[in-house]
Amino acid sequence: MNPIRKIAVMTSGGDAPGMNAAIRASVRMAIYRQLEVVGIIGGYTGVLNGQFQPMQLRSVANIIQRGGTILKTARCPEFHKPEYRKIAADKLHEQNIDALVCIGGDGSFRGAHLLNQEHNIKVVGIPGTIDNDIWGTDNTIGFDTAVNIALDAIDRIRDTAASHDRLFIVEVMGRNSGFIAAEVGLAGGAEIIFTPEHLFPIDQAVNQIKGAVSKGKMSSIIIAAEGQKPGRAYDLAEAIRKKSGFEAKVCILGHIQRGGSPTAKDRNLASRLGAAAVDALIGGDTNCMVGVNSNKIIKVPFQEVYTGKKEVPRELIDLAQILSL
Ligand code: F6P
Repeated sequence: MNPIRKIAVMTSGGDAPGMNAAIRASVRMAIYRQLEVVGIIGGYTGVLNGQFQPMQLRSVANIIQRGGTILKTARCPEFHKPEYRKIAADKLHEQNIDALVCIGGDGSFRGAHLLNQEHNIKVVGIPGTIDNDIWGTDNTIGFDTAVNIALDAIDRIRDTAASHDRLFIVEVMGRNSGFIAAEVGLAGGAEIIFTPEHLFPIDQAVNQIKGAVSKGKMSSIIIAAEGQKPGRAYDLAEAIRKKSGFEAKVCILGHIQRGGSPTAKDRNLASRLGAAAVDALIGGDTNCMVGVNSNKIIKVPFQEVYTGKKEVPRELIDLAQILSL
């Protein structure tokens, strides 16, 4: 087995608060273990364009508390094509990079897995996405921060909803996943939670709102994940209006949930996983993600990560509904 002498660190896919803390941990652990480190600027697009930047201890100073990613990130559709992965592998070889730490979501891990399979690039992934939809880890970097940002917004909306006796639909992020919706729905005392995974019939929602009104509850908050059916929050408001005459105010939180200073939980998760990824590579692991299970660091093969399906906890959604009676 060839020893690892030089690694590259990159962020890929949607940014997530805490990615900087993970970069810092990977860079500093690598230097502590006497490796050379470079950062890749702009995810897989940066690899294709040869955007490598040497990293020293001070390159990652004063970033643990910052949102976003100092290495920038991108979604890179070209990477679905083998000819581009070949270019990427050549660029990594030209730089004498022995291994890659890839901080991102499962799409990014698929790219990393293929790089390994096709070109033997050693790679370990770190789960970084606000969506928390990565199988094999209890939490992803950024999820806790996004949930707390959304929760703060929902608390504010509740003040005005209650003052005006209004129905609100708050749309949170999650194109394919309802983890943020379920988590903030329960924590924010939402009456109804719509997620892409667990369909909630409009008729049932309308009946529930009517029932609440008949019991003297004059304001309600519905949480809707971006990817829920029948569509975006405005479509949901229209469907409710058509069926019941209730007018709902819509608030789309959007990318606000992706910015800002990471919570302590995200910084610590990122610090632990960043360090663990480097140690995994030094120890000979490749083609796997480092994650956390019951507060212990674990390694999960990429193949399992993206074939597994992490379930949004149905009990959070049901409990929110019961408790909002
Ligand atoms: O990174 C995950 C996520 O924030 C999803 O929740 C959302 O659907 C998507 O990214 C938005 O992506 P983009 O910023 O590329 O529009």
